[in-house]
Amino acid sequence: MALKKSTLLFSLTKTTNWNNAPLRAGSWWSQVEMGPPDAILGVTEAFKRDTNPNKINLGVGAYRDDNGKPYVLPCVRKAESQLSSKSLDKEYSPISGTPEFCKHSIQLALGSDSNIIKNELSATVQTISGTGALRVGAAFLNAFYPFVKTVYIPKPSWGNHTPIFKHSGMEVKSYRFYDPNTCGFDFKGACEDIRSIPEKSIILLHACAHNPTGVDPNPEQWAELSNLIKKKHLFPFFDMAYQGFASGSIDKDAHAVRLFLQEGHEIALAQSYAKNMGLYGERAGAFSITTNNKEEAGRVMSQIKILIRAMYSNPPINGARIVSEILGDEKLRADWLVEVKGMADRIISIRKQLQENLKKEGSSKNWQHITDQIGMFCYTGMNADQVEKLIKEHSVYLTKDGRISMAGVTSKNVEYLAHAIHQVTK
Ligand SMILES: Cc1ncc(COP(=O)(O)O)c(C=O)c1O
Repeated sequence: MALKKSTLLFSLTKTTNWNNAPLRAGSWWSQVEMGPPDAILGVTEAFKRDTNPNKINLGVGAYRDDNGKPYVLPCVRKAESQLSSKSLDKEYSPISGTPEFCKHSIQLALGSDSNIIKNELSATVQTISGTGALRVGAAFLNAFYPFVKTVYIPKPSWGNHTPIFKHSGMEVKSYRFYDPNTCGFDFKGACEDIRSIPEKSIILLHACAHNPTGVDPNPEQWAELSNLIKKKHLFPFFDMAYQGFASGSIDKDAHAVRLFLQEGHEIALAQSYAKNMGLYGERAGAFSITTNNKEEAGRVMSQIKILIRAMYSNPPINGARIVSEILGDEKLRADWLVEVKGMADRIISIRKQLQENLKKEGSSKNWQHITDQIGMFCYTGMNADQVEKLIKEHSVYLTKDGRISMAGVTSKNVEYLAHAIHQVTK
């Protein structure tokens, strides 16, 4: 393509080396349009600019302690100090991550008495946190899933699910999940939609603490979903980003995953240690495919490794070492179980406090869903106008869909928040 006169002039005046002219002129990317800012990071930017001393940021999904401060788990600090005394090298990790990390991860998800583990029926790799697990999984499904390459995600779902699967070449569709009338699970709608999904498609399920709604099926509903998904021959892909963080129990939060396996499903599974170990920036996660024979698991593993090699070669070592140190050390593991429960309990308790304070404010609305929902997020049911008022008039920052991160609510700001919510919803 010929350079425009103005561009050529620019390159002539700004560069002296003719060979570099087109590169230096900056014309290669003139057709690139500015992309929209990330919805959640945009909330944080606006929050930072606000000078109101009472401002609250409920946009970002990262745990905060009751003083609103980021929280590094004491077991993580101890693991780091134990690791530091070992003076470990900085060699490359294997493509699939360390075998130790992978073994701990699949055991955490399935339970140590799992037949899948005993019979070596899973291909598990370390990934770049939960996002990386989903991305590796999507790449594998896109390359090797032999049936309909369409993944059905709940409506709504975590904002990154659609881009991750689309980026991998898959088609993305949705099934009903959230009922705005009850601010709860639309079980009937979900079943109706799942019944009409073409057979042998892929269905994405949030294992626990559904993001953004905080709405999870109960055990009876999971059992029915499992039957229905089996009947329709759908392939279940579980996203488990919050194991332990939802109820405080790693076993309870893994109920759906373990139930599906007991019921004979073969699954894909994405795990993350971002929330349950507070290892956000360490990017420690895992991706697994379960199979019904060991030889198949080996073949699947070999292909996942080939995909990873081309994407990022091998995963980072530090977060994986911390996870292995904690899960492989009886004392540290016991500490972790207490600490993850501590985070879950604080969230559960602050939900109650928010509900009580709304009542104290005199709100006649039904806020039952605040405590019925679970995990990091509360889907408040506030509409876009109410959200805008909350931001503009009260400096409470949240995403447009009315989702608040409960982790940003503390015993110090809960009254202010309840007052603000009441003002915009009465
Ligand atoms: C549902 C869900 N899946 C996956 C992730 C991935 O997180 P990360 O890549 O930080 O592990 C998140 C994080 O917010 C999430 O909410």
